[in-house]
Amino acid sequence: MEDRYYITTPIYYPNGEPHLGHVYTTLCADVLARYHRWCGRRTWFLTGTDEHGIKMVKTASEKGIEPKQLADQNVAVFESLWRELKVTHDDFIRTSSDRHKAGVTRIVHQMLDRGDIYRGSYEGWYDEGQEEFVTESNAKEADYKSVVSGRPLVRYKEPTYFFRLTRYVPQVIQAIESDQIKVRPESRKNEVLSKLKQGVEDLSISRATLKWGVPLPNDPDHVLYVWIDALSNYITALDYPDGDKYKTFWPVDNHLIGKEILWFHAVYWPAMLMSLGQPLPRMVFAHGWWTAEGKKMSKSIGNFIDVQKLRAVVGTYSLDALRYYLLRAAPFGSDLDWKDAELTNAYSELGNVVGNLLNRTLNMLSKYREGRIPAPGQATSEADQSLRRQIDTLAGELACAYEGVELQKCALLPVELARSANAYIDATRPFSLAKNPSEAEALNTVLNLCAQACKRILSALLPVLPEKAESGLRQLGVVVQGQTLQSLLSEDLPSGHLVSRAEVLFPRIEVK
Ligand code: MSP
Repeated sequence: MEDRYYITTPIYYPNGEPHLGHVYTTLCADVLARYHRWCGRRTWFLTGTDEHGIKMVKTASEKGIEPKQLADQNVAVFESLWRELKVTHDDFIRTSSDRHKAGVTRIVHQMLDRGDIYRGSYEGWYDEGQEEFVTESNAKEADYKSVVSGRPLVRYKEPTYFFRLTRYVPQVIQAIESDQIKVRPESRKNEVLSKLKQGVEDLSISRATLKWGVPLPNDPDHVLYVWIDALSNYITALDYPDGDKYKTFWPVDNHLIGKEILWFHAVYWPAMLMSLGQPLPRMVFAHGWWTAEGKKMSKSIGNFIDVQKLRAVVGTYSLDALRYYLLRAAPFGSDLDWKDAELTNAYSELGNVVGNLLNRTLNMLSKYREGRIPAPGQATSEADQSLRRQIDTLAGELACAYEGVELQKCALLPVELARSANAYIDATRPFSLAKNPSEAEALNTVLNLCAQACKRILSALLPVLPEKAESGLRQLGVVVQGQTLQSLLSEDLPSGHLVSRAEVLFPRIEVK
């Protein structure tokens, strides 16, 4: 792997406040960014907001304000939430910013020069009351009537510019099939490929009826519509094409997105980049969707996981516990269901498994060896060897899990090692060994191995539980600053190393 890493989230629509879905993608991207930083790579983590388009115009007019004002209000909420959740993004791009608009204008110019944009007309079902086109499938579902007013939809034709998507389809298929662009999970790659093979049309990219957007440089009566504007953020934020950031960080290592926008990222975006003659993304990873307590999240049912609810969770359980719960909830890529009871269980698991192991280890070291890690004994039992093997394989397994973006595994692997180490303490019974001076060597082995296990477990958890893991490592007498994950995960604590007193990492919570 290279010594640099670029990861993005989707740019979110600021037509409302953020919720669990946005927080999930952003925190998952944060875990990946932290991991790669810990590995010593120069890392760039981008998020932002997608501010143009009909949705914004509509919501703003309902509120009697301008779209820009609506964007400003909600962007402030997104930004302050990311600060509260200690998200480590390096940049926040807004599509209404001058730097983005200048970048997109340049991109459109290049596509025009390539002959990839042409004028035509767009025909479709139009809801006159809502002033918007309705897709064929939505129109059919609503019996060709407006879902809002119930009035019949009308056939409407308007001039629009098209992007020659069809020109690039064979190359896009080839790039996805060969894994030049890794579309993940694999099952979704197959979905994209089969849809591509069914045939694709050129892409309508402008609207003459909309004012809130980036004007087309060749025809300012039109503004860019949705995808060219939005997808370009991933490079305009790097000062495409001449900026140092672009030269350093493009192509992106991972576009992390929700599954509903995979098609645009796996098909439109690579085709756009081909038109610009630029390298393709290395990976597009589409994660699953959240429901809550078995149902689609909805304000009226009362199961909507909004900013207030997330703040309350952080207040009760800690930010790290929220991160752990989100990662643990399902294999990465699958759909997920928020359950309050599982959040409580995930927190207890951290306390009973990881917290408990650290506590037991530090207490035993303090009680039996004055807080110093003893050299292991000469003879080793089957149990010692088995734990030692597990300690030594963690680094490799973790690297594989991160490489494959198996985030659930990234969170669980260290916890599984902690479970094994707790079972090892139960089986070797150090409290009995301590009563018998002839077992001093055996006790030394147990204490040493437990301390090594704690160091590896907490180090492996640094990207997932940044605060708790660091605080646990501090108790073990490990200073993480200036170290890489590789050194933390491969070097044993030396004999004679002094640890601190145990402090509770995951205090018990009174459930009201
Ligand atoms: N603006 C577009 C994306 C443009 S990217 C060039 C957009 N914005 S959005 O505000 O609707 O955000 C969609 C993203 O939010 C999803 O891709 C996903 O990352 C996240 N989620 C929103 N609701 C979600 C769930 N219920 N579950 C999981 N994630 C979801 O689409």
